[in-house]
Amino acid sequence: MSDDRRFGKSSAPGSKAPKGSKASSPPAGSKGLPPPEPPGVLPGQALAEDELTLRPQSFDEFIGQKKVVENLRVYIEAARNRDEALDHILFSGPPGLGKTTLGHIVAHEIGTEFLSTSGPVLEKPADLAGILTKLGKFDVLFIDEIHRVNVAVEEYLYSAMEDYSIDILIDQGPHARSIKIDVPPFTLIGATTREGLLTTPFRARFGVLEKLDFYRPEELLEVIRRSAKILKIDVDDPAAEIIARRSRGTPREANRYLRRIRDLAQVRSHGRITVELAVEGLRMLGIDDSGLDAMDRRILRTLIRHGGGPLGLKTIAVSVGETEDTIEDVYEPYLIQQAFLKKTPRGRVAARRAFEHLEASAEWEHDGDQLRLFKKEGHSPP
Ligand SMILES: Nc1ncnc2c1ncn2[C@@H]1O[C@H](COP(=O)(O)OP(=O)(O)OP(=O)(O)O)[C@@H](O)[C@H]1O
Ligand SMILES: [Mg+2]
Repeated sequence: MSDDRRFGKSSAPGSKAPKGSKASSPPAGSKGLPPPEPPGVLPGQALAEDELTLRPQSFDEFIGQKKVVENLRVYIEAARNRDEALDHILFSGPPGLGKTTLGHIVAHEIGTEFLSTSGPVLEKPADLAGILTKLGKFDVLFIDEIHRVNVAVEEYLYSAMEDYSIDILIDQGPHARSIKIDVPPFTLIGATTREGLLTTPFRARFGVLEKLDFYRPEELLEVIRRSAKILKIDVDDPAAEIIARRSRGTPREANRYLRRIRDLAQVRSHGRITVELAVEGLRMLGIDDSGLDAMDRRILRTLIRHGGGPLGLKTIAVSVGETEDTIEDVYEPYLIQQAFLKKTPRGRVAARRAFEHLEASAEWEHDGDQLRLFKKEGHSPP
């Protein structure tokens, strides 16, 4: 039951650092913590393995997102009582907040198989048909990055979701014929970092739409304590609190920082993570006291260099050397939530907090030159 049957090369949780996640493309400044991964192990692999170990297996182990969990428990219970498949679910929210984890948990709680694939892997309707025919009654089909499913596949999904059947065209030319394939009642769980990119009819076919929010520091503290226990890391409470506060509301980041700081602790202090060590480790990772990393600051600095904006996403992307998608999916949500950045119809604008923060951290970063330059030109915060 916990055996994940997987499809496509990017669907196995252990095979990738999730797309668009900061872990998969460490921003400048997050380098330099000793020791390196053991020989023969790619950084992404080691992280993925740890993610598997640390991934909560049931609702009871899942920290935070109380409302979402409460809703899901009710829907699962009700579907079970009616002996029906659970309605299709769409999880949306920034990377690393637990969408995939919740998908696994739902299957676990229903007591069915979890089959996983992802939007870009489903190139043609036949790919989808291949997966649908492997589904058993009430199984969960998880589609990651569901906003990247192409139009042709999307239309087939509609009928699979609504009627539990698909009409698939086989052969071509005069021999072409369509055959109807019945699919057992199943639950589709889609995960997306960009709910806005889903078409309206597609979105409308999900009975349950749940948005995941950034975690509060108290919740991340719980995540860190839990992970430290599993990984047998000795971490002082105040040190765990510091890591929690700077993990940009994201369990994946909290776990990543904990792991990296543990490395430092092994080299420097017989494995124990003290406050000094946590502070030093975060500094080496380029994480400042607001939890921003080098790329976050580079984005804000770009805006400030242009008088605070508004600036188009394209200009920012070129300027900081990151893709527009990654900036939108990975960096902006937290900067917006923390009131460092605003989206306006004319472009991105740096908020007052960004000016204040960068000024305060300029010395810390040894790169305050541009900030001073900008000050000489006489711009002032909005
Ligand atoms: N509520 C939680 N409690 C404890 N740990 C969590 C929680 N949510 C996520 N995690 C940890 O964070 C890791 C990342 O979560 P997950 O892979 O589910 O994120 P995601 O939303 O699917 O991200 P992506 O959009 O990048 O695919 C998990 O492996 C798990 O260790
Ligand atoms: Mg995921």
